[in-house]
Amino acid sequence: MSDEKFKKVLSHAKEYGFVFQSSEIYDGLSAVYDYGPNGVALKKNIRDYWWRSMVQLHQNIVGLDAAIFMHPTTWKASGHVDAFNDPLIDNKDSKKRYRADVLVEDYCEKIENKVQKEIKKAKKRFGDAFNEAEFVSTHPRVVKYRQQKEDILNRMARSLENEDLADVKNLIEELGIADPVTGSKNWTDVKQFNLMFGTKLGASAENATDLYLRPETAQGIFVNFLNVQKTMRMKIPFGIAQTGKAFRNEIVARQFIFRMREFEQMEMQFFVRPGEEMKWYHHWKETRLNWHKSLGFGDDYYRFHDHEKLAHYANAAADIEFKFPFGFKELEGIHSRTDFDLTQHTTFSGKKLQYFDPELNKSYTPYVVETSIGLDRMFLAVFSASLQDESLPDGSSRVVMKIPAILAPTKVAVLPLLKKDGLPDIANKIIDDLKWDFEVTYDEKDAIGRRYRRQDAVGTPFCVTVDHQTKEDQSVTLRDRDTMEQIRIPIAELRQHIQDKFDLRNWLK
Ligand code: GAP
Repeated sequence: MSDEKFKKVLSHAKEYGFVFQSSEIYDGLSAVYDYGPNGVALKKNIRDYWWRSMVQLHQNIVGLDAAIFMHPTTWKASGHVDAFNDPLIDNKDSKKRYRADVLVEDYCEKIENKVQKEIKKAKKRFGDAFNEAEFVSTHPRVVKYRQQKEDILNRMARSLENEDLADVKNLIEELGIADPVTGSKNWTDVKQFNLMFGTKLGASAENATDLYLRPETAQGIFVNFLNVQKTMRMKIPFGIAQTGKAFRNEIVARQFIFRMREFEQMEMQFFVRPGEEMKWYHHWKETRLNWHKSLGFGDDYYRFHDHEKLAHYANAAADIEFKFPFGFKELEGIHSRTDFDLTQHTTFSGKKLQYFDPELNKSYTPYVVETSIGLDRMFLAVFSASLQDESLPDGSSRVVMKIPAILAPTKVAVLPLLKKDGLPDIANKIIDDLKWDFEVTYDEKDAIGRRYRRQDAVGTPFCVTVDHQTKEDQSVTLRDRDTMEQIRIPIAELRQHIQDKFDLRNWLK
């Protein structure tokens, strides 16, 4: 995938009513986006797919919808006031601002690309006899590149951990890293920048309380731990799931909806016995990866990235990375957060956030394994992997969104071949029946071929065409988006026939 592909994603998202720039008539607001009619439907279906897999299919996971505003001490306790920072660096010539750690990581990604090139070359040369593990551990150039990369990342991790920002700048200068846009190497010092948005609650300036817009939904779950555990009589191990908006004052906000200032998260905190967290951490890593794979894009779209540098609250963490048009990037995080959050909230609130375990006959502060995914980022993953330019056997081509059927904004389009002879009435009757089960749409404008293409472009899995034969034998044609095959089928069998494609069992079982 490439820049070219990414440009197509952007223009397609706008042209077909998926994503618009926020406040576009005022020239937009950077890193803030609105979802159009097709976008909001796709987003809802992704949210539902997550919610059903987490809450509906797990007897020991329940839902929550905590408020965006939280007591300001929450963010003191969670560490966000003191430690939710990005190290930033400005280029004095271009006046552009970058995350210092991302500049270094991108540099390392280029080294890794050289490794991948060597592997590709060797694969070609040795064919079936190629042993990749042996090659990467013995080939001198590859070993050198990997060592170089590791040394750089270790040094950066050390410097960030020790708050030695001067050394992060030295590293950038020593590596000769230039402004990716202008090539200038004229850098300012590196500074920490807090990512939380502040706001005020109260009628007058004197009495106002300083609040933050939540930068993650997770804290709403932690502060409600006892409320949920007690009212729902939950027994450990159990989880609390929540979807909702989060806000971060991202400085380097590029790449469309990948990094936004207002975005939605889907998070689940799983509370376990101390000492059992690594078992559950591995369980949730696998379970979440399988959820992604269930959508059918193919295994090579995903990889794990295990964190070497851990946040102060974690004893293990990994990202599920997705092959976006601009390379492999984080899509979801799975974190073993120990008892950090519940202990911090106990200290700051004075309320004991503990659990009495009847089997062990003692109370303890549970450990937490978290799964955290950005809904907008998942949207971009689904959208970019689905968008395809397909060459057809007759030499023509089509743009088709092969959105997994269960997520498609519209499931069925019903199209009368002509706008007359009673065909629209029959089409509308079919809609009246199918709309109880599926998202359906009606389209009578333009030639049938153009209508098929329009539905392909928004990912509608099925088109039903009503023609003159329908009037004689109550049958319609059913066209499949992916194969473009058309079959003749009685109207009475339509629902039954397409239902399987949207049955959760067939996706998640
Ligand atoms: N509670 C843990 C947490 O918030 P995170 O790694 O900071 O962890 C989790 O965020 C997920 O939220 C990320 O994997 C990503 O999918 C999404 N996310 C984070 N920042 C985002 C942003 N600025 N725009 C869109 N999605 C974002």
